[in-house]
Amino acid sequence: MTGGLTMWAARALSRALRAYCTSAPCPRPSQLPRVSIRDALVSQNPRGENMKVQGWVRSVRSQKEVLFLHINDGSSLEHLQIVADPSLDSCDLTFGCSVEVQGVLVKSPYKKQNVELKADKIEVIGHCDPKTFPFKYKERYPLQYIRQYPHLRCRTNALASILRVRSEATDAIHSFFKPSSKVKKQGKNFFGVPAFLTVSAQLHLEVMSGAFTQVFTFGPTFRAENSQSRRHLAEFYMVEAEMSFVESLQDIMQVMETLFKSTTEAVLSNCPEDVELLHKFIAPGQKDKLEQMLKNKFLIISYTEAVEILKKASQNFTFTPKWGVDLQTEHEKYLVEYCGNIPVFVINYPFDLKPFYMRDNEDEPQHTVAAVDLLVPGVGELFGGSLREERFHLLQQRLARLGLTDTYQWYLDLRRFGSVPHGGFGMGFERYLQCILGVHNIKDVIPFPRFSHSCLL
Ligand code: 4AD
Ligand code: MG
Repeated sequence: MTGGLTMWAARALSRALRAYCTSAPCPRPSQLPRVSIRDALVSQNPRGENMKVQGWVRSVRSQKEVLFLHINDGSSLEHLQIVADPSLDSCDLTFGCSVEVQGVLVKSPYKKQNVELKADKIEVIGHCDPKTFPFKYKERYPLQYIRQYPHLRCRTNALASILRVRSEATDAIHSFFKPSSKVKKQGKNFFGVPAFLTVSAQLHLEVMSGAFTQVFTFGPTFRAENSQSRRHLAEFYMVEAEMSFVESLQDIMQVMETLFKSTTEAVLSNCPEDVELLHKFIAPGQKDKLEQMLKNKFLIISYTEAVEILKKASQNFTFTPKWGVDLQTEHEKYLVEYCGNIPVFVINYPFDLKPFYMRDNEDEPQHTVAAVDLLVPGVGELFGGSLREERFHLLQQRLARLGLTDTYQWYLDLRRFGSVPHGGFGMGFERYLQCILGVHNIKDVIPFPRFSHSCLL
């Protein structure tokens, strides 16, 4: 029965395709295996296999005897060299056009590359007029310039490298959590009530952490930040983790530091060329800075100590540092430099500055909560987290004072029924990429930046 159905479906599909092909050009799929440029480049001993590659032309050099092309398909920074008879050249073969090339992979006689593709067929799939294409051959553009072309900028080396690193870091973050975490929170889609885009998945994670001891999410987060700063987006990605049976900030900081370091190690070992390109051209000096961050244990200071350091600073701040007032970007920057450009955890913030769910340290006269921020070079705040108030009566009092008791009955229930000490954190993923790559503006580490007054695509 199933076989019959499959046959029927195949015949119907082929009829539909034939009908379509009478009115439109029908691309004939070639039977050759398609190989990614990354895979082609790593083959050590090509045995003359026939294959095809598809991608975009990055250079065309037509000589009397031979035609050279460089093709890139996004799978690696390095291009694949194509060598062909000049008769295969055509005026459509320009920088930026898309092509399918068939041929044989052979060892290259040139020192710069291991292999090259000896082409017997080059088909231009999509033309590209080099006169109007905004990027020119061999030209290197500042990130600020290419940002004007959100629909085309991933064709540049710099953006493609950043996006490969982004993808690698995403995988590394998932692998970091996966062995210890069985559950990943899924988005909710069934609304019968007013609903909002989330600013954080934390409270949902706290629900989950009442049954699963370690949970995480990694997804888009939305904030109406009325800021044009180089560190804020209206839509950014956040990694959040929540851990049950955790009684000290120390345990949370340990996970934050390991997450930062192991993700970065994975990125460095899986896409070294991309990182090197960015460190070389976008952020000279960043390589050493990153090495320092990785090899040193992150520092820990209290908020109170941080304010003392700032008060003693010879620098004149726009915002005068004062206990009980939020740390500003200029303060964060100073603190990181003061700590020798090693990431620094700032812990125990004033009670009155922080949200109701943070655990009361019950100290005086300077009343604090068990909150932690990680400040890193070049970016400032990268992580924010805390121990959560798991004691029913303290939480109830705080909610009552804020007039939120009714709204948060469900949250109080978590403390009514089998409450456990717990805590967690959130890490801004774009800020993480900025920090490791040395990219100045957050808008350059996300494919489609959305921020106040700007939602281009
Ligand atoms: O410090 P935040 O606001 O912490 C929370 O949302 C907690 N509920 C997380 C938790 O404990 N589960 O945000 C966490 C991080 C910040 O440290 C920063 O790196 C990033 O998210 N972030 C932004 N990144 C880009 N654009 C913005 N507008 C951001 N706001 C926060
Ligand atoms: Mg924060």
